[in-house]
Amino acid sequence: MSLIRPNVDSLEPYVPGEQPQEPGWIKLNTNENPFMAPQIAVAVAEAATDLLRLYPDPLCVALREKLAARYGLPAAQIICGNGSDELLTLAVRATAGEGDRIAFPTPSYSLYDTLARIQNAFPVPVELGPRWELPVDELGAVGAALTLVANPNAPTGTPYSLDALDALARAVEGLLLVDEAYVDFGGETALPLVNRHENVLVLRTMSKAFGLAGVRLGYAFGSPRVIEALNKIKDSYNVDRLTQVAGIAALDAYDAAMAHNRETAARRDRLAEILHTRFGFRVWPSATNFLLVDTGRYPVKALYEALKRHRILVRYFDRPLIGNCLRITIGSEPEVSALLRALESLLL
Ligand SMILES: Cc1ncc(COP(=O)(O)O)c(C=O)c1O
Repeated sequence: MSLIRPNVDSLEPYVPGEQPQEPGWIKLNTNENPFMAPQIAVAVAEAATDLLRLYPDPLCVALREKLAARYGLPAAQIICGNGSDELLTLAVRATAGEGDRIAFPTPSYSLYDTLARIQNAFPVPVELGPRWELPVDELGAVGAALTLVANPNAPTGTPYSLDALDALARAVEGLLLVDEAYVDFGGETALPLVNRHENVLVLRTMSKAFGLAGVRLGYAFGSPRVIEALNKIKDSYNVDRLTQVAGIAALDAYDAAMAHNRETAARRDRLAEILHTRFGFRVWPSATNFLLVDTGRYPVKALYEALKRHRILVRYFDRPLIGNCLRITIGSEPEVSALLRALESLLL
């Protein structure tokens, strides 16, 4: 009986990072932010009234107006989603049919490949350069219905220039989605490209820079035509009432969040230096809130497991090019100190 579409039947699902539900873990594995503005929790608590009986605003009007004022694009060019992952799904569904190509650099966010397979589209991974440079010409040559680029990239941490993305927007045939999940930790935004090219969609999330992974809020900026298409296919009530309130409160606390992000970036660079000088690791330059660390002669899986015994979670990847690397989130100062103490006890 053909109960399930064959491509779904044979799908290897995306595996999210471990999310232990009991307290006591130092979580440096899913790039969450140690800082969340306290006003957000207050606003959400105040909004938790019997109004929850009623459906939320399907178009997130108040939130989109706030985003429009913050980022300088009209609300008609903004869509909100249940995390940026939902907006990635919508972009795939809107642009790529069965057998169409979906291009993305590799290594990058592995969900891109999974989403292409769910759609029964044809994933085309294109290797980054030796220093993780963006392969603009090769990506442009794919002829993809959709090209997905994380900038800065995950898990390498690499920032790409606006010029490179501008060139890519001209080189691709279909939609270019620039996933800026980590841009507030040091990347250069592609927002200026949105009104330059009808085919550019810039994706953001509140999960990282605003410390709101738990409420699931993403947003995207694009041409009116692309935003209209995404609106047609989204679930009617894709962003719940409490999330809309949290998003508005997060934007009200924008300056505090960005100040913390600058501090995180400074601590990231200090940690990179220490990991290199003290343990001999090769640390890739990062414009994000994590580091990609080649652990050299120390096998990553054993190191990951040893850290786990210290109740510290990091991430490793059983994938080409980064098979000897750990990805370490820049946690709070005490969390980073605990990581360093654990590494010292294990390696020195
Ligand atoms: C590059 C990239 N894009 C998107 C996401 C998803 O973010 P969200 O929590 O908004 O779904 C992540 C999460 O890790 C990510 O690393």
